[in-house]
Amino acid sequence: MVQPLAIILAAGEGTRMKSSLPKVMHPLCGKPMLWHVLQSAAAVTAKQLLVVGHGAGQVKDYFGQEYIYVEQRQQLGTGHALQQVLPYLPDSGEALVLCGDTPLLEKDVLEQLVLTNRRQGAAATVLTAQMEEPYGYGRIIRDGEGRIRAIVEEPDLTPEQRSVREINTGSYCFELQALKKYLPLLPQNKNKGEYYLTDLLPLLLAAGLRVEAYKIDDAVQALGINDRLQLARATSRMRERINATLMLSGVTMIDPATTYIDAGVEIGRDTVIYPQTILEGKTRVGENCRLGPGLQLVDTVVGNGVSCRQSVVLESVLQDGAVIGPFAHIRPGSVIGPGAKIGDFVEIKNSTIGKGSKVPHLSYVGDTQMGPAVNMGAGSIVVNYDGRRKHATSIGEGAFIGCNSNLIAPVSIGSSSFIAAGSTITRDVPSGSLSIARSRQEIKEGMGERLLKKEKK
Ligand code: UD1
Ligand code: CA
Repeated sequence: MVQPLAIILAAGEGTRMKSSLPKVMHPLCGKPMLWHVLQSAAAVTAKQLLVVGHGAGQVKDYFGQEYIYVEQRQQLGTGHALQQVLPYLPDSGEALVLCGDTPLLEKDVLEQLVLTNRRQGAAATVLTAQMEEPYGYGRIIRDGEGRIRAIVEEPDLTPEQRSVREINTGSYCFELQALKKYLPLLPQNKNKGEYYLTDLLPLLLAAGLRVEAYKIDDAVQALGINDRLQLARATSRMRERINATLMLSGVTMIDPATTYIDAGVEIGRDTVIYPQTILEGKTRVGENCRLGPGLQLVDTVVGNGVSCRQSVVLESVLQDGAVIGPFAHIRPGSVIGPGAKIGDFVEIKNSTIGKGSKVPHLSYVGDTQMGPAVNMGAGSIVVNYDGRRKHATSIGEGAFIGCNSNLIAPVSIGSSSFIAAGSTITRDVPSGSLSIARSRQEIKEGMGERLLKKEKK
């Protein structure tokens, strides 16, 4: 189809959110609600114009140069918002007008809206939905023949109109000639003093033009977000949609209701996700992984066959066959090599762990380049911070770091070297050597028994 132009109204403050963040920037499943609107809009339109005002800087910074921005300096209503784009509109064609706060609308519905307008030769077609709880939405008022006559906002409803369940989704398709001619003539609403876009419809009808309604089957898509209750509801719907798509593409979720995956996260086939798993941001996961329970991955790239449970992993890479957790914390800039194991109560920061290396229990590794096949004993620590600066450590292939060792950075541990348990290493360790850096044990015969007897008295 010849693609129309999209205009997205996103200048409102969103007073009912009670937030310092502009409403359209509030995230659902990791992306601002406006991002979701743009995803659907961009799929069916050639160009997208955003009407911005409240928090315009934040919106522009996030979405960048891909879109055209038109400023609405004072927020005088949805009609006034659309009036701001008048100078930018071509003389013919169509515009799809959407609100920045209805993020669940899918592209198929938008396409049907445009096609309906086109088929009917209408000046405008409104996207409507039948809602169980229509409170707060503009209601669709039809005449005896079922033709749409007007849209009435909640505060302006008469008692009979209040029971109308068909609502305005805030999305429309307009024929541009009609829009350009009649939009400047919008009256001011008597109650609020704003210019309502909904008041354009009676103007078009009075001019003898055709106005149609296209009703969505799936009313959930029409959910508009004005407050945080609606934000939570829409987020939950979006999450269901993301999880459904992933499951149908071959991912097993033991409990989708407690699986939280951001929009845009990719997951390979036969990966199994256990409850309370949160995959955020730019995370990508390969095939045949086992994730969770109780796991958070943020901006992390996971290879194939990785097992990761009860852990937090931030901005890192987990390569094929790595085994993480339970209870590991992997901080930004880390690369866990193929088949490497990071065990319980281990923190890794800005470090590379070589192929098959093991850091199984109670360790801290920071600013370290660790080669392959290294074994780091329980409780061993890389001392990377001297109170003022961070220093680097390297550990060569096959080194064995005994339990409870301290590697005082900057230091280099040679390959196949052996560090005796309890050593505090301050000097570089040559390859193949043994280092012991701890005080010697003294034995006092019989003294233990004597001490114990004393205590018993
Ligand atoms: C609007 C509709 C209502 C519909 C509902 C659907 C009007 C008068 N009412 O009501 O019929 O049922 O959406 O969710 O149109 N905006 C601007 N500039 C403004 C005012 C608003 O850009 O001056 C933008 C907002 O950022 C928002 C959208 O327009 O994205 C809708 O505004 P909002 O105030 O949420 O309208 P509703 O009261 O929800
Ligand atoms: Ca709204």
